[in-house]
Amino acid sequence: MRKQKATNVHWHDGDITRADRERLNGHRAVCLWFTGLSGSGKSTIAREVEKMLFERGIHAYVLDGDNIRHGLNKDLGFSPEDRSENIRRIGEVAKLFVDAGFIVMTAFISPYRRDRDRVRALMREGEFVEVYIKCTIDVCEARDPKGLYKKARAGEIKEFTGISAPYEEPVRPELVIDTSEEDDVRINAGKVVAFLEAKGYLELRETVAPEGAQR
Ligand code: ADX
Repeated sequence: MRKQKATNVHWHDGDITRADRERLNGHRAVCLWFTGLSGSGKSTIAREVEKMLFERGIHAYVLDGDNIRHGLNKDLGFSPEDRSENIRRIGEVAKLFVDAGFIVMTAFISPYRRDRDRVRALMREGEFVEVYIKCTIDVCEARDPKGLYKKARAGEIKEFTGISAPYEEPVRPELVIDTSEEDDVRINAGKVVAFLEAKGYLELRETVAPEGAQR
């Protein structure tokens, strides 16, 4: 874990609260943390959910593994330490998105339980939803959309998740989507949206304090 270097810095809250932002948006803010093997379908499902939510006027945004590694985290590789730092930074970014009132979806392998739990601990109860995109290694390897499993088997990529690096399954994820059983993207994305609906994330119930109430 990296230590804070800066001294003489102070946290500052603005006057606009999360509740204000949720009221403006008409829906709750939450982080959907997708986790699973490479090729399991995390990004594809997250993108489909993003589209479905957008069409309903919901502020949704996907933080995607490969994209973030081109920018914010381009200094990180795939050692256990770098993966932890990758997830820590994404967790902080996701928290900012939640604070801004978004439904943010993160699509990273995030292979270590401890790293995912640390992100969960950053957020409040109900703000972090772990979505396990479950898929057997055999099916992921057969799909091999980026040809990476082939390279990993040939020894051209070291520390490849599922082949030469570990993946720790979630213990109590809020939602499990098994894409080796069902690989229709719209059906799977529909399950995520149905979950959000059932849990009341897509509307404002009495969870938000009314006008003038104590914040
Ligand atoms: S994580 O383990 O730190 O969460 P992340 O989701 O950001 O990984 O990046 C995974 C993506 O990087 C994979 O989908 C794949 O395209 C690519 N990749 C390149 N090298 C590796 C590797 N050694 N292990 C896993 N994925 C890799």
